[in-house]
Amino acid sequence: MQGTAESKLATLPNIKTALPGPVAQQVVAHDAQFISPSYTRPYPLVVKRAKGAMIEDVDGNLFLDFNAGVAVCSTGHAHPHVVEAIKKQVDDFIHICSADYYFPQLSQLAEKLSQLAPGAHDKKVHFGNSGAEAVEGAVKLAMYSTRRQKLIAFFGAFHGRTMGALSLTASKFKQRAGFGPQALDVTHIPYANCYRCPYNLTPESCGAQESKGPHCARIIEDLLFKTTVPAEECAAIVIEPIQGEGGYVVPPASFLQTIREIADRHGILVIADEVQSGFGRTGKMYASEHFDFVPDILTSAKGIASGLPLSATIARADLMNWSPGAHASTFGGNPVAIAASLATLELLEDGLIENAAKMGAYLLEGLTALMDKHSIIGDVRGKGLMIGIELVKDRQTKEPHAEAQHQVELECFQLGLITLGCGQSTIRLSPPLVIDKDQCDFAIKTIDDAISAVAK
Ligand SMILES: Cc1ncc(COP(=O)(O)O)c(C=O)c1O
Repeated sequence: MQGTAESKLATLPNIKTALPGPVAQQVVAHDAQFISPSYTRPYPLVVKRAKGAMIEDVDGNLFLDFNAGVAVCSTGHAHPHVVEAIKKQVDDFIHICSADYYFPQLSQLAEKLSQLAPGAHDKKVHFGNSGAEAVEGAVKLAMYSTRRQKLIAFFGAFHGRTMGALSLTASKFKQRAGFGPQALDVTHIPYANCYRCPYNLTPESCGAQESKGPHCARIIEDLLFKTTVPAEECAAIVIEPIQGEGGYVVPPASFLQTIREIADRHGILVIADEVQSGFGRTGKMYASEHFDFVPDILTSAKGIASGLPLSATIARADLMNWSPGAHASTFGGNPVAIAASLATLELLEDGLIENAAKMGAYLLEGLTALMDKHSIIGDVRGKGLMIGIELVKDRQTKEPHAEAQHQVELECFQLGLITLGCGQSTIRLSPPLVIDKDQCDFAIKTIDDAISAVAK
């Protein structure tokens, strides 16, 4: 599964130099001279090549990748089946502009995506290049088809950085600072974070276990529609079924279901942003399935083409009835990315989704056990291979431990494990779906060692 015979890398880390090594230092210095400083590099990983779940850096150090290019390389780096599909497509033709001309694989992939997205209804697909573009498409479609303009989104949400998507994003102030007023009319409310309930309620006291649904969802009808958001002007509620950049937060199913019910009562559309949680990552094709949640529009990107830029806005066929020219892009649905996506789907359906569920459960158990040893672990949560470890200064007060998050991330890097923070103080694990048990054991031990070093 993890590479052709001649290009195989070992499957566990091997750090040979002090990090960053001498070549990596040169690259980082050159990069600082020419690359936008708005990029957020947590540590100096400088890649030379990568196969499966392994990355070799420019100094010959070998890392285990538990980030996958931020949840993108779903089938592992350079999976031979994906590489073969890409090479074949490059030989045939590289680009044709899907918005103006036809090629068979475009609608073949769209048909597959329509079948795999939640809900038995007919669907249609618009292809873009990035997660933000898929979100832009979803919001434009919602506004176009409802002729309404207001949107509801959630604190902690990340939907991208283009001006429309940025209006929905409410993850970190740095992403907003300096960019003026919101381009879209979005009202944000707290997400269902039961570990830190924004209303100081519990699942037992908030209504989550009753038919009325949790307070954090009901507030849309009880407060928003009575004050700032007239329901008849609201086009859509935009939600991540599992919050990603906001901290890998898993809501109770009743939160999503209550939102669905409220939206239905008022003719409002529900957009599920599955850019990070989709494509097998959570042990199901889409995270929505864990919650019996059926959105009207779903956005998919990141893992969809194993690393080539592709995104999809998948909508109810009766909604996606906009006129020619209303929305399109030159590169969206590029043939090489479409080929990579078709190959990715074959691998996911051939066992990788199952592996994500299995390895995810194994990891979750091993990481949860670390809570007995390390009091700075406040919470371990996730579905499949979308796992967050939230670090706190004190389990009672739950004060986020942002410094520890950064230090653990750095320590893991030094030990050969690639992770990335998310939320205020969460270590995010989003490895390729090809990882095996030995790699999970290495990750658990390394996180254990890293926390021991940081918490001492
Ligand atoms: C849920 C979600 N939506 C949208 C985006 C934006 O995707 P991109 O960076 O490809 O524009 C991201 C990226 O992290 C995401 O996690």
